[in-house]
Amino acid sequence: MHIPVLVEEVVSFLRPTDRVVVDGTLGHGWHTRAMRDAYVQMGVHPQMIGCDIDPAMFAKAVSNLSHIPGQWYNQSYQDIITTMKHDNLVSDFFLIDIGINWDHILDANRGFSIHHHGPLDMRFCPHRISAADLIVSSSRHDIAYRLHAYGDIGEKKAYEIAWLTKKLCPQTTTERKKILSDCGLGQRVYPQCFQALRIAVNDELWWLHRFFDQIGEVIAPGGRLALISFHSGEDRIIKHRIKMRTTHWWRQLCGKTLSPRYQEIQKNRASRSARLRVIEKVSHD
Ligand SMILES: C[S@@+](CC[C@H](N)C(=O)[O-])C[C@H]1O[C@@H](n2cnc3c(N)ncnc32)[C@H](O)[C@@H]1O
Repeated sequence: MHIPVLVEEVVSFLRPTDRVVVDGTLGHGWHTRAMRDAYVQMGVHPQMIGCDIDPAMFAKAVSNLSHIPGQWYNQSYQDIITTMKHDNLVSDFFLIDIGINWDHILDANRGFSIHHHGPLDMRFCPHRISAADLIVSSSRHDIAYRLHAYGDIGEKKAYEIAWLTKKLCPQTTTERKKILSDCGLGQRVYPQCFQALRIAVNDELWWLHRFFDQIGEVIAPGGRLALISFHSGEDRIIKHRIKMRTTHWWRQLCGKTLSPRYQEIQKNRASRSARLRVIEKVSHD
């Protein structure tokens, strides 16, 4: 089961509000539940809104949040901004916890995991093309670029893997792993290669850029945006986009990033690469 990360840290940035609070990546809804509990303790009842792009995760969130009044959408965190603008809503707190849910990893049929044999799928949203199809329609150069840029694989090795990938066009996670092994990659690096492909399949960095283009419009002055990321590429984008607006829009809270404490990592090893940034909207430019 998915264990949410940095929950106490996120909750520590909440302030009493009766207005709108958004969770842009519901997952199983654990962060939303924790935030709602914290608000109830503060004696306030904000309007809770949440979304997840993945229909399976969304269904779990809706079931886990059935006791909480709120509006839940099977949408991307980019599209929820459009929905909010349409409904003239601005939020006092907006969270995104980007990446993969543990349930994605456990479901072999989703093709996310190096540990389970399954179709090379990796889609959060059924409207996209699968990882296997993306490989077929991509050039060798594109495949190498993604391995290098999103997976931190050296350029020479990335081209070698890309060449064999194009030649064999893997259809399953096992075939993909065999290619990595045949290229002499250590098993330690397989997760990075899988992650690089997942990021490409779901256009995850593009979503993040589009999100930053518009998020300032749906955060109230003094409202806060909390971002949890697990990948250095995502964190680089977040850092860069915060800097672009620092003088006009955003004040960074919590210095740079917050990482899980030792005790959290002991309980949940998957949390070790999580990083939290929290920023506050200062004013409209
Ligand atoms: C790390 S999990 C979130 C876990 C959640 N905070 C919880 O407490 O259970 C990330 C979630 O983001 C979802 N996701 C990924 N890309 C998304 C996007 N562009 N828009 C909305 N949800 C997205 C995934 O389906 C996944 O369920």
